[in-house]
Amino acid sequence: MLKLQYIGKQYNQKVILENINLEINTGEIVSLLGPSGSGKTTLLNIILGLTKMDQGKIIFNDTDLSNVPMKKRGFNIVFQDYALFPHLNAYENIVYGLRNKKGLVSEREIQEYIEFLELEPHLKKKIGELSGGQKQRVALARTLVTKPKILLLDEPLSALDGVIKESIKERIKSIAKEFKLTTIIVTHDPEEALTLSDKILIINNGSISQFGTPYEIMNQPSNDFVKEFILKQLQIKRQNIYNLFGEKYA
Ligand SMILES: Nc1ncnc2c1ncn2[C@@H]1O[C@H](COP(=O)(O)OP(=O)(O)OP(=O)(O)O)[C@@H](O)[C@H]1O
Ligand SMILES: [Mg+2]
Repeated sequence: MLKLQYIGKQYNQKVILENINLEINTGEIVSLLGPSGSGKTTLLNIILGLTKMDQGKIIFNDTDLSNVPMKKRGFNIVFQDYALFPHLNAYENIVYGLRNKKGLVSEREIQEYIEFLELEPHLKKKIGELSGGQKQRVALARTLVTKPKILLLDEPLSALDGVIKESIKERIKSIAKEFKLTTIIVTHDPEEALTLSDKILIINNGSISQFGTPYEIMNQPSNDFVKEFILKQLQIKRQNIYNLFGEKYA
C-alpha cells in the first residue's frame, strides 16, 4: 500500500500542493484528475522522487520513503512528452533503462512486454518514424521492463485519439490487473478517469476536492467544483452530440 500523508509543496512561496492525504492499495489504478495547473504533475513527480516535497510523508509497504532518492524508490514513470531518445531505435529505447541493471529482466521477459504491446514490427524504427500511438507503447514498454513497484503515467492518452486511445486504455488496465501493478495516471479528461480507474483523486488548486470510486464521483459529488467542473464537462459533451444527432447517439 502507498500512503501519502499531509504532502505540501510551495514554489517561490506560492502554495502548489496542500495537505494531500491518500491511501492506494496494491494493484489499484488511480487517476489524478484536475484542470491545467492544479498540481497533478507536481504530485506525480513527488511520488517518483524527482521533485522534493516541502511537507509530509510518503510510506510504501510500511517503509518511509520520504527521504529515499528516486533511484532507490523503485518506481518509474512515463513522462507527459514520452522523453524518448530520437537517435536510438525503438528497441534501444525500450532497453535503455536496463543498461546498468544486468539480470533484472531476462530477454524473454523483454520480448513478452514487446509482444504484449504489439511492438515487434517497429523495433528497428527510429522514434521519428513512429506514430503517436506507437511512441506511447514504446514509452510504456521502456518503463515496464524496469519492473517498477509503482507505475506512474503523466497524461498517457492525451496525444492519442479514438480507437488507439481505447486500445492503450485497455492495455494499461490489463497490465495493472495482470501484474498487480499499482498505477497512478494523470489526466484532465473526466471520461478517461471514470472509465479507466478504480479510484479518482480530484485535485483543484493543489488541494483534494474528492477521492472516490467512479461511482461515488458520479453519484455523490462532494462539492460544487466536482459537480461543475467534472460532471458539467461530461454533460456538455453529451449535449453537443445530442444537438447534432439527437437522442439515439447521445
Ligand atoms: N519548477 C517549477 N517552478 C515554479 N513553479 C512551478 C514549477 N513546476 C510547476 N510549477 C507551478 O505549479 C503549478 C502546478 O503545476 P503542474 O505542472 O503540477 O500542473 P498540472 O496539473 O500538471 O498541469 P497540466 O495539466 O497543464 O500539465 C503551476 O502553477 C505551475 O506553474
Ligand atoms: Mg501536468
